Amino acid sequence: MRIAMVGTGYVGLVSGACFAEFGVEVVAIDNDRGKIESLRAGKIPIYEPGLDEIVERNISAGRLTFTTDLGSALHGVDAVFIAVGTPSRRGDGHADLTYLFAAAEEIASKLEHGTVVVTKSTVPVGTCRRLQQLFTKLRPDLKVEVASNPEFLREGSAIEDFIRPDRVVVGVEGERARQVLDRIYRPLNLIQTPILFTTLETAELIKYATNSFLATKVTFINEMADLCERVGADVQVLAKGLGSDRRIGTKFLHPGPGFGGSCFPKDTTALLRIAEEASVPLRIVESVVAVNEGRKRNMVRRIIQACGGSARGLTIAVLGVTFKPNTDDIRDSPSLVIVPALQAEGADVRAFDPEGMETGAAELPGVTWCEDAYQAMEGADAVVVLTEWNVFRALDLERAKALLRRPILIDLRNIYEPAEMVNAGFSYSSIGRPILQSDHQRQRDPVADVEREAV
Ligand SMILES: NC(=O)c1ccc[n+]([C@@H]2O[C@H](COP(=O)([O-])OP(=O)(O)OC[C@H]3O[C@@H](n4cnc5c(N)ncnc54)[C@H](O)[C@@H]3O)[C@@H](O)[C@H]2O)c1
Repeated sequence: MRIAMVGTGYVGLVSGACFAEFGVEVVAIDNDRGKIESLRAGKIPIYEPGLDEIVERNISAGRLTFTTDLGSALHGVDAVFIAVGTPSRRGDGHADLTYLFAAAEEIASKLEHGTVVVTKSTVPVGTCRRLQQLFTKLRPDLKVEVASNPEFLREGSAIEDFIRPDRVVVGVEGERARQVLDRIYRPLNLIQTPILFTTLETAELIKYATNSFLATKVTFINEMADLCERVGADVQVLAKGLGSDRRIGTKFLHPGPGFGGSCFPKDTTALLRIAEEASVPLRIVESVVAVNEGRKRNMVRRIIQACGGSARGLTIAVLGVTFKPNTDDIRDSPSLVIVPALQAEGADVRAFDPEGMETGAAELPGVTWCEDAYQAMEGADAVVVLTEWNVFRALDLERAKALLRRPILIDLRNIYEPAEMVNAGFSYSSIGRPILQSDHQRQRDPVADVEREAV
């Protein structure tokens, strides 16, 4: 099998490299010349654990090549996958299909008889059919089959997700597309991965339904965390009790500052637009989007309250700016709302992120970027854990306390135990757990009283 992968971003590069690992011959194309040059020089432009090894191995084996030249790349391929970005359209939240249709038009003139066009990008219902019409118009000489093959990988564990997926979803109409995709994914038969063949529309919608359901789970546990705080319950234990029910499952039940990232925010909003066009109200997803937006702003209030009610003139250390650990992706990360809001309230922000500082620096002006967590805490009035990178899980608490002006730690990812933090002498607040304080602290720490009242 020989395929072309258009777009070498998080999805295109991982999928291309993993298909090569399956034994398929892959040519990966991007119109970003710099990216292709880096890749050819063996440099991976994104941070994704394990990706460098797979790319290197498959380049050496001659199964993976990179080019900017679509024309030569499409010669003799069985399928061309489109994995370009489909971000939120500014202003209305529809999926922006500009890159997708631009790529499709380029592809159209180079298509050969029998090449199947596959959308890997997340696209609204009806997009594959629109592509089909476009190819019919531009290439009346060919019968082009379009297939939908949405991708479910998670950044940070993308390789494992791609190589051992829970399922593969394929939307097809014609027999040729079905056969080609069946052959490409054949190695997954060995591990008995369900390959779900369905219609174009169903495949397209499964992707949005999946992300919206997961976003709903996250939002649900976040609201439960708020309730726990009010009634004196512990959301960590609640999540365990809830998630141990196999009908529910433990995944995506981690309370935090609200979901972000390159997919959930844009896909939930795009699903709402799809539903509006179909005149079908999706009240649950509407609430999820609204609650999540409000939550990020609430986190700012929570931080300020933990600092004593005002951020003016304070220095706040922020640990983590990416939307989750093990990625350098900062798209729609809660940090993009929380950090500027703290600055607007008069705080200076010092930040450290193991992989996200380069992307962070472009999006978060005015932040002092530090070499590690300890440098970020130097002279700060409080420290906020925004992303649960492993390096933040075992901080030297004595050293942290000595560096901070006040020992205030706001843990928006619940990576520490309240009792441990109180014993270590911190004024500690987290999400959905009772605030514990030593008697000693209660007597001498007015900041903590403000915090307790606020929560
Ligand atoms: N990032 C994820 O975790 C994830 C997971 C599942 C699905 N998706 C979906 O996959 C799609 C891609 O997402 P991503 O995060 O990989 O995006 P990305 O922005 O990281 O990568 C897109 C790439 O496409 C390239 N590109 C754009 N137009 C092109 C053209 N005409 N020819 C060649 N290259 C072109 C860009 O230069 C870029 O390198 C989106 O629809 C997204 O919703 C993403």
